[in-house]
Amino acid sequence: MSERTRIAPVPLRVDHAFEGAGTRTLADDARDGLTKPFKDLPPKHFYDSRGAALFEQICELPEYYPTRTERAILEQVADEIIAQTGAGELVELGSGSATKTRLLLDAMARAGTLERFVPVDVTESAVRASAALLIEEYPGLVVHALIGDFERHLDRVPAACARRLVAFLGGTIGNFAPSARRRLLSTLRTLLEDEDHLLLGTDLVKDSATLEAAYDDAAGITAQFNLNILHVLNRELGANFDTDQFEHVAIFDETNEWIEMRLRARKAQTVRLAAIDLTVEFAAGEEMRTEISAKFTRERLEADLAASGLELVGWYTDEQSRFALSLARPA
Ligand code: SAH
Ligand code: TRP
Repeated sequence: MSERTRIAPVPLRVDHAFEGAGTRTLADDARDGLTKPFKDLPPKHFYDSRGAALFEQICELPEYYPTRTERAILEQVADEIIAQTGAGELVELGSGSATKTRLLLDAMARAGTLERFVPVDVTESAVRASAALLIEEYPGLVVHALIGDFERHLDRVPAACARRLVAFLGGTIGNFAPSARRRLLSTLRTLLEDEDHLLLGTDLVKDSATLEAAYDDAAGITAQFNLNILHVLNRELGANFDTDQFEHVAIFDETNEWIEMRLRARKAQTVRLAAIDLTVEFAAGEEMRTEISAKFTRERLEADLAASGLELVGWYTDEQSRFALSLARPA
């Protein structure tokens, strides 16, 4: 036996996939996104520590039904999923504060299979805070966190130590455009051996009033969250966005069946991003896209899974068919 195998695993290990501390791809994304005829920015840049905290508040809002609906479904089916998959390792993409994660860890603990939790998230503060709590709450649990971008760094996920369940909750898969979504699912497929499973949370197509309210709450928290991306640009790229001069917009695109979040310029303005030597003009009323959140049907999801080498083996939804959890395995 080598030295290495005799060392008991440490309860918490945090790996970093980002080279430059915290810069991620923000400079490139800003340079590309702000020079397009229809400006856009990718949503991963929302989640600095303030953005992550605002997202936690969104999850508690009366209008934002996805979080509590997904939690209610998980409460119903977690034991069944763990029994069906035999999972002892949970890999979670975009785990954030890992609140719903506990329902899966509890089911694994009850089944006696629980060994390791591998959260993958860009937001180090959220991952560290949740990991510290989890190793206290689950004696014997090993947490091996990866701070990174799940679009770029999934090759850094450690080799499985037990039957694996990859969870991708919260409808985050909906934040990717159709081809990027299939690419991401195909990469996820590479994390799975034949006996492993993927658990995917997706919001479902429904009336546009319900959907738009979920992304434009009365208390204005989602507006603050959306505008936070401008604070991130100001801080990280020395930009001078005046956040009072932009307004939050959320509309349901009926053709594409996705919510679009945008920031609309209240007046014509010029913004300077000093760190990347970029000057950007906004016309009055010009809109910049900051996120899409796709809404699914079972058929669409099955097609996306099939295109990525995955087969649907379980479909769990709430009574009103608001949200769905899908269990899939390598086809
Ligand atoms: N799973 C939680 C949080 C969802 S919010 C829930 O269901 O409530 C989306 C999470 O994904 C955030 O924690 C954010 O930091 C993370 N995230 C977004 N884009 C990411 C990316 N490209 N790579 C890694 N993490 C990302
Ligand atoms: N994955 C979540 C979703 O699409 C992220 C989210 C919820 C979100 N509400 C938001 C992102 C508001 C930005 C703004 O539902």
